[in-house]
Amino acid sequence: MSVYKNPTWYKDAVFYELYIRAFKDGSGDGHGDLRGLLDRLDYLQELGVDCVWLLPMYPSPLFDDGYDVADYRNIHEDFGTLEDFKAIVDGVHERGMCIIVDIVLNHTSDQHPWFIESRQSKDSPKRDWYVWSETDQRYQDARIIFLDTEVSNWTYDELTGEYYWHRFYSQQPDLNYDNPEVQQEMLDIVDFWMEMGIDGFRVDAVPYLFERENTNCENLPETHDYVKRLRAHVEAKWPGRILLAEANQWPHDVREYFGDADEFHMAFHFPLMPRLFMSLKQRSRRSIVDIMNRTPDIPPMAQWCIFLRNHDELTLEMVTEEERQFMWEQYAPEPRMRLNLGIRRRLAPLLNNDRRRIELLNAMLFTLPGSPIIYYGDEIGMGDDIWRDDRNGVRTPMQWDTSKNAGFSSADELYEAMIDDRIFGFQGVNVAQQQADPESLWHKVVHMLTVRKQYRAFGRGSFEFELPENDGVLGYWRVYAHEDAPEIEPERFLVLVNLTDELQTVTLDLGAHQGKTPVDVLTSESWPEITAEPYTATLAPYEYVWLKLP
Ligand code: GLC
Repeated sequence: MSVYKNPTWYKDAVFYELYIRAFKDGSGDGHGDLRGLLDRLDYLQELGVDCVWLLPMYPSPLFDDGYDVADYRNIHEDFGTLEDFKAIVDGVHERGMCIIVDIVLNHTSDQHPWFIESRQSKDSPKRDWYVWSETDQRYQDARIIFLDTEVSNWTYDELTGEYYWHRFYSQQPDLNYDNPEVQQEMLDIVDFWMEMGIDGFRVDAVPYLFERENTNCENLPETHDYVKRLRAHVEAKWPGRILLAEANQWPHDVREYFGDADEFHMAFHFPLMPRLFMSLKQRSRRSIVDIMNRTPDIPPMAQWCIFLRNHDELTLEMVTEEERQFMWEQYAPEPRMRLNLGIRRRLAPLLNNDRRRIELLNAMLFTLPGSPIIYYGDEIGMGDDIWRDDRNGVRTPMQWDTSKNAGFSSADELYEAMIDDRIFGFQGVNVAQQQADPESLWHKVVHMLTVRKQYRAFGRGSFEFELPENDGVLGYWRVYAHEDAPEIEPERFLVLVNLTDELQTVTLDLGAHQGKTPVDVLTSESWPEITAEPYTATLAPYEYVWLKLP
C-alpha cells in the first residue's frame, strides 16, 4: 500500500528520520550526500517506511549539524545540489513514499547573510530581523536549553555593543518574529521547498518564536497566531502537505499546537518517550498509563508522532525531577552518557542490546496511538559512542555491510569515524548481514511494519487501556470502525506487552467478546476462545502480542 497521494497519508505513515551526512556517501568525499541517499531509496522501501524525514540539508557551517542555516534556499555543498534534491523528491514519490524536511524557523546561523548584515550597525536594514538589546537582563524567565554549553540566552556583540538573543547555541541567533518581514520571508521559504514537491516540514523549535517580558517565552499566544498564519498559508497553497511540530512540552501545551485543526497536522509526543523506557526499569506500566491519561484528545485529522530515539539526546525535559534522576541512574550511569537534560545514547545500547527489549519497545512504538518514527540505524540496532562531543555519538555513519567503512563511503577520512566497538562495530552490526538472516532484528522490524500496514486501527483507531491487576503487563485496545463502509466489521486489536523479564499471568475480563477467538497477527497463532469465564493468559518475559478479535 502506498501512502503517497492519499490526502491524510500522514495518519497511516511510518516515518524514517535520517541525517544525509550519515547515510550514504555517493561522491567519495567522506560525507553522506543526496546521490548516496538516492542509491538507498530502495532500501527504505524494502524496510517498509512511508515517509522520509531529512535533517536540515541547507548551506550551513554545521556547528549544530545544519540547524544553523546560512541559506534557506539551497543545498549544502557537501550534500549536493538542488537538482540532486529534486531527484530525491521524485525518487521517493516514484516508490510510493513521501518526504518531509526540517525547517528551522526560530533562528539562523550567525553566518547567515541576514545576521552578518544585522550585526553591522544599529541602523542596518536587517538590524530588526534579530532580537537585540542594550542589556542582557531582559526575558530572565526564559530557561537555558543547551545547559552544558550556554550560560545565558544573550551574547554580547562587540561591534555594536549590544546583546543578541538566542535560545540555543550563541552561533544561532534568534530571528525576530515581531518583524513582519521575517514572518513573510519564512512563508516564502516554505513555498520554495513546497514547489520542489516535498510533502511537508518538520518544524524545528516551535515554542520559542516570540519573546515577551515576564513569561518563560514559550508557547506564547503570538507564536500560536503565527503558526495559524503558516497553516492557513499551507492549506491555501499546498493542500495535502503537512506541518509537524517539534514542541518539547507537556501534552496539554502541545495540544494547543493542533489548535482547532488550524495549526499543526502532527506533533511529537515527547513526554511518552522516556516513560516507555522508564516502564521497563520500573517493571510497571504506571508511567505510561499516567502520561496517556494526561494526553488530551486531538482533532480528528491531527496525529501524534511517536518515537523511541532521534538525533538529539533522549530528552528528560518532560519528566519530574525524581523521574529524571531515576532515568539517569538507570540509563546513564556514567557522566559522559548525559547531555543537557538528557541521555546521549542510542536505542540498542540503552536496552543493553537485549533483543527482547528492543523488539518490545518497537512493538509498542508501532501500535500506540500516532505515527511512528524510526531513527536511522535503530532498525539494525546500531551503537553509539559517548566519548564524542555533543550529540555526535548518535550520528555516526550508517552501517551497510562489512566492506571498507561499512559500505558507507570509499573515502579514507569520514565526517565522523565509524563506531569502533567489539559488539556494535560494523563487523557485527550491519544491514547486509541482517538482511541475509531471517531471524535478525531488521527482519523483525520489517515484519511488524508489514503487519501494521494491513490495518488502519494502528494509525487511526481509537485507544483505550485494558488494565489487568498485574501492572507488569500493559494492555490496550485499538479499534477502527470503517466510517465509509459500516458493513465492514470494525478492526479490533488488543495489544498486550509484558514489561518484565519474568513470566506474567494476567486475568482479563473479555466477557463482551464471548465466543471469539483472538489471533496474534504477528505469529498467526490462535489463542483460546473467549468464554464467560475470566480470560487468563501467561506472557513470556518481554513478550508482546497483537491480538485481533474477529
Ligand atoms: C531542535 C533540534 C536540535 C537542534 C535544536 C536547535 O531541538 O532537534 O538538533 O540542536 O533544535 O535548532
